[in-house]
Amino acid sequence: MLFHCFAVIWDALSLQVLLVFLATFLLIADYMRRRHPKGFPPGPVPLPFFGNLLHVDFRNPRPSVQKLTEKYGNIFSIQLGNMQTVMVNGLQLVKEVLVHQGENFLDRPKFPILFDRFQTFGLIHSSGHSWKQQRRFALSTLRNFGLGKKSLEERIQEESRFLTDAIEDEKGQSFDPHLLLNNAVSNVICSITFGKRFDYHDSQFQNLLHLLDELGQILAGIWGILYNVFPALMKHVPGPLQTGFKNWEQLKSFVSKIIEKHKEDGNPLETRDFIDAYLNEMAKEDASSSFHMENLLQSTLDLFFAGTETTSSTLRWALLYMAIYPEIQGRVQAEIDSVIGQSRQPGIADRDSMPYTNAVIHEVQRISNIVPFNVPRLATVDTKLAGFHVPKGTTLITNLTSVLFDKDEWETPNKFNPDHFLENGQFRKREAFIPFSAGKRACLGEQLARMELFLLFTALIQKFTFQAPKDVKLCLDFTIGHAVSPKPYHICAFSR
Ligand code: HEM
Ligand SMILES: *[C@@H]1O[C@H](CO)[C@@H](O)[C@H](O)[C@H]1NC(C)=O
Repeated sequence: MLFHCFAVIWDALSLQVLLVFLATFLLIADYMRRRHPKGFPPGPVPLPFFGNLLHVDFRNPRPSVQKLTEKYGNIFSIQLGNMQTVMVNGLQLVKEVLVHQGENFLDRPKFPILFDRFQTFGLIHSSGHSWKQQRRFALSTLRNFGLGKKSLEERIQEESRFLTDAIEDEKGQSFDPHLLLNNAVSNVICSITFGKRFDYHDSQFQNLLHLLDELGQILAGIWGILYNVFPALMKHVPGPLQTGFKNWEQLKSFVSKIIEKHKEDGNPLETRDFIDAYLNEMAKEDASSSFHMENLLQSTLDLFFAGTETTSSTLRWALLYMAIYPEIQGRVQAEIDSVIGQSRQPGIADRDSMPYTNAVIHEVQRISNIVPFNVPRLATVDTKLAGFHVPKGTTLITNLTSVLFDKDEWETPNKFNPDHFLENGQFRKREAFIPFSAGKRACLGEQLARMELFLLFTALIQKFTFQAPKDVKLCLDFTIGHAVSPKPYHICAFSR
């Protein structure tokens, strides 16, 4: 009887009606969720379910987003999947977010892809108390290097000898510098975190670097974006995301094994590296402490993740610019020859006597703009920004491109021009130079990265002249991964 009754109702309603009803309900629910609060920065009308995802062409975000900036100005809202997002442009407003009102924007948004799989431990994606503790510890450990017997400078100089030897082996033939440079800068992090470097021919380590690279590409690409918008669905879709998750597990297990080894052969009286220092910290009893295994694992991986592709990509841009601007390369070589000569390795103390080289490195960082949208922040309290209301829980994206290319700050923003950082032959600091971001949550590796860039770049230009291979025209096209990098290229390094 009951069943019969149900069947009649079913007939009457028909599947179509039911679907229309369901869709309407979902649309209304979706609209209610997306409504902008009062005083919120203006922006394009979000579409149901997708938000403004379709307004941004993520393969090449520049032109599509350009239109939004032209229409709305320095601050506007955009809905990316489920996240209410505010985009901020220009030196003044970007500094307002990162520095002057920085305290309100110290947390990170919880992207589903990170929250589900990578947790929010570690340094890059953590928030609140745990972030504060992990960051303070990592910073002071990096600073005291100190750690073990070698200084940070010596660790980088040692690596630069291996790097120049390996490039020497290419004998002026054209080669792709990507893997060598990745391996070299990654070795600096290896040396700091677990006291060991890997040979450039070590196939296991090459494989790990490849996994790291591939993971960065997947997370930054369309699959990462789709996952963040439709996590429940994408979780089960086979393809690149599953590859990414597998890569992640392999990287994790690699670091886990190294941690286990440190536990076995560590000596509390001698701190050899970051992992030793961390294990010592874990041994201290403190109930509110965030020093535990998950955070150690993630912090170590974060140092790799944040410290490899960024520095390597900047160096790849640097070599490319040197080959494209031979007269600038020549001036760097002249400065190296007069300050350092050919017989000794560059040291960090040389930097102050080398304004031109220093200016070239800064200009490479400015124009290559490898983290164009910074790393997103989250508002932890309701905040007034440029007269608008930015409620707690809003994601903020600070557009570093708009600062590094600001027409009001740079004489020739679109031209590679080291004079941006020179005044009467002396190095000139610029307020709008913020490739490492700014404020309390700026890049944790800034000091290390600047040291690596100076020591490695100077050692390379001291030993070699970089040129395009015969009959090849080098170009400045880029690819988007974990950082914005040059498209793969081949180059020749001629010994000087
Ligand atoms: C040229 C090289 C590099 C550039 C351009 C760069 C840039 C950045 C930027 C823009 C951020 C986001 C900061 C923010 O949210 O305001 C960041 C964060 C970070 N960077 Fe770097 N970085 C570089 C190299 C390194 C290196 C070598 C390390 C390794 C120690 C490193 C470790 C980190 C970490 C751990 C964070 C997260 C900090 C936090 O959330 O508290 N970076 N970096
Ligand atoms: C970021 O800044 C650049 C340069 O000013 C601009 O072309 C681009 O449209 C901006 N992007 C966003 C999302 O505001």
